[in-house]
Amino acid sequence: MKIIVINGPNLNLLGKREPEVYGNKTFEDYFTDLQFRFKEVQLEYFQSNIEGELIEKIQDVGFSYDGIVLNAAAYTHTSIGIGDAIKAVTTPVIEVHISNTHKREEFRHISYISPVARGVILGFGLQSYDLAIQSFLQE
Ligand code: DQA
Repeated sequence: MKIIVINGPNLNLLGKREPEVYGNKTFEDYFTDLQFRFKEVQLEYFQSNIEGELIEKIQDVGFSYDGIVLNAAAYTHTSIGIGDAIKAVTTPVIEVHISNTHKREEFRHISYISPVARGVILGFGLQSYDLAIQSFLQE
């Protein structure tokens, strides 16, 4: 099984960025743990701060991979383009967020990803990604 985790803008700063919201761990460290926990999965990781690069990655993997775990970060709340890319491909996408966006500012309550995602997991810290990967394994 081939699954890619795609992270959007500012998630390269995890560990340093607002640790009270996003925790102290870097995503690279967490990803190493994930690879250890899900040895049976071919796991890949991609991060970009650029909307078009995220769209290109979704297009590149979206007809051949078994799953995409996507945290589009701030683009979740603004990007019709990422929503359309998800609609265009055949690989199912699980939307994840580290924080519970519904407990936060109102602009974070809107998602252009949710209506086109297979499911949404949010508010469990980095564990949100574990849960998303598990959901692909339990199909
Ligand atoms: C986030 C929530 C978004 O609102 C925010 O812009 C992020 C991270 C999360 O994982 O909690 O960058 O997607």
